[in-house]
Amino acid sequence: MVSWQSEEALESNCLNPLDPDEFRRQGHMIIDFLADYYKTIEDHPVCSQVKPGYLSNALPRSPPHMPEPLETIIDDIHKHILPGLTHWQSPNFFGYYQINASTAGILGEILCNGLGVLAFSWFASPAATELESLMMEWLGEMLKLPRPFLFSGGGGGVIHGNTCEAIICTLAAARDKVLREIGEENITKLVVYCSDQTHCSFKKAAKIVGINAQNIRAIDTTKVTEFGMCPSSLKQAIVMDIKVGLVPLYLCATVGTTATSAIDPVMELCRVAKEHNVWVHVDAAYAGAACICPEYRGLIDGVELANSLSFNAHKNKPSESKEVIDYKDWQISLSRRFRALKLWLVLRSHGVANLRKHIQSHVRLAKLFEELVGEDDRFEVVCKRNFALVCFRISPSALSKHGLSTGYLSGDASIDNGHIKNGHTVKEPVTSTANINDVNKRLLERINGTGRVLMTHAVVGGVYVIRFAVGATLVKERHVRSAWKLVQGHADAILSDRP
Ligand SMILES: Cc1ncc(COP(=O)(O)O)c(C=O)c1O
Repeated sequence: MVSWQSEEALESNCLNPLDPDEFRRQGHMIIDFLADYYKTIEDHPVCSQVKPGYLSNALPRSPPHMPEPLETIIDDIHKHILPGLTHWQSPNFFGYYQINASTAGILGEILCNGLGVLAFSWFASPAATELESLMMEWLGEMLKLPRPFLFSGGGGGVIHGNTCEAIICTLAAARDKVLREIGEENITKLVVYCSDQTHCSFKKAAKIVGINAQNIRAIDTTKVTEFGMCPSSLKQAIVMDIKVGLVPLYLCATVGTTATSAIDPVMELCRVAKEHNVWVHVDAAYAGAACICPEYRGLIDGVELANSLSFNAHKNKPSESKEVIDYKDWQISLSRRFRALKLWLVLRSHGVANLRKHIQSHVRLAKLFEELVGEDDRFEVVCKRNFALVCFRISPSALSKHGLSTGYLSGDASIDNGHIKNGHTVKEPVTSTANINDVNKRLLERINGTGRVLMTHAVVGGVYVIRFAVGATLVKERHVRSAWKLVQGHADAILSDRP
């Protein structure tokens, strides 16, 4: 049996997009394709080597008039799509924060899509709503959240599409609560607080819910607090705002920031915020998962004083008059997939004990990388490692030893006091910080240019750091060791001024 139809079949109108036998046959082909992909994933350069526009030159400009067999489409995936991918699931991927694929997760997605239900209200699919509520209880228990965060304690949770959505929803809830008290006309007086390390989606979310852009306070952080938000700076900002007649509304505290995995002190920040009736949201997008391990749970201590937490689950009051939940009222869009099924499959297939071990193994590998960096006196770990992220660079002392700490910067980017200004072709004397940043930027470009690994960078306190984030499902010690060898090799070349 083949999957494409002839002209006659089309004319006789016998298109059957969900023929169970074809579904089985093609499903096996896709699973085989993915299994082979995972078997050979290390053969691909981690970073795609293609040039912009490569795909539009390779694929037809118009859609096909007649159906094509899956075999041909899979051939094209091999030929045209795989070369244009950054292989996020490669064990040599150490960039950003990884997304963890797993057999259970992938099959959970298939189940969720395969059953094809929409669960906007309880009635639209009772199992989907009830399983989601139960999964929120399970997650709450895994994180040892205080009872008011759980349905059983009068709160509850929902699976959002992403953190930004969770922040928009909680911001909107906080805004409406305060506007009911002070009148809608006072929306321009509302002020929200975050730090200069908070994910940029917070500012976006604040603007979406109508907060005046001038009333978004990003509290400066420094190396002294390891880039965590300082409670006294928050207090100062709140007091100043109240003095001029503004209304403090919402604080976004982060446990595990995007740049360096810094930790805002949740308890102390909550105490300051609560004095002034400010809603506190804890964004634990990255580090929340680690908090299922007992050794990290203390990092969200104080969450009992917060109003909401996102690592998907968040506290919210269920509608009082209803016995059931209509999850459409907990999110932005109406339609929602049966995502709880995927979570259920993942939690049951692994069990909490193994999930903890998996996270701990990533932290162990990051610790190993940190030790390797520490053993080479040309390098330094720039920020305290909290979870499985190591932020490092070639150190200023190594550069001055090699006569590279002052000098001239040329190329298409200039760095002035640690701020990169793009679009310049300059050759000018630069500060030593700028030069150090430039050297580390070149180091990262060279490493990634090999296609053998992928790392990313951040600029904190004016310092350019290379981020080595361990989190790929398939990563092993040998990948970490060979990534470090690669870094050392390119540092050798840079420090001895070899091309
Ligand atoms: C701390 C933090 N918050 C929020 C986000 C945004 O996450 P999402 O894509 O789920 O909106 C990220 C993404 O990396 C993050 O690290």
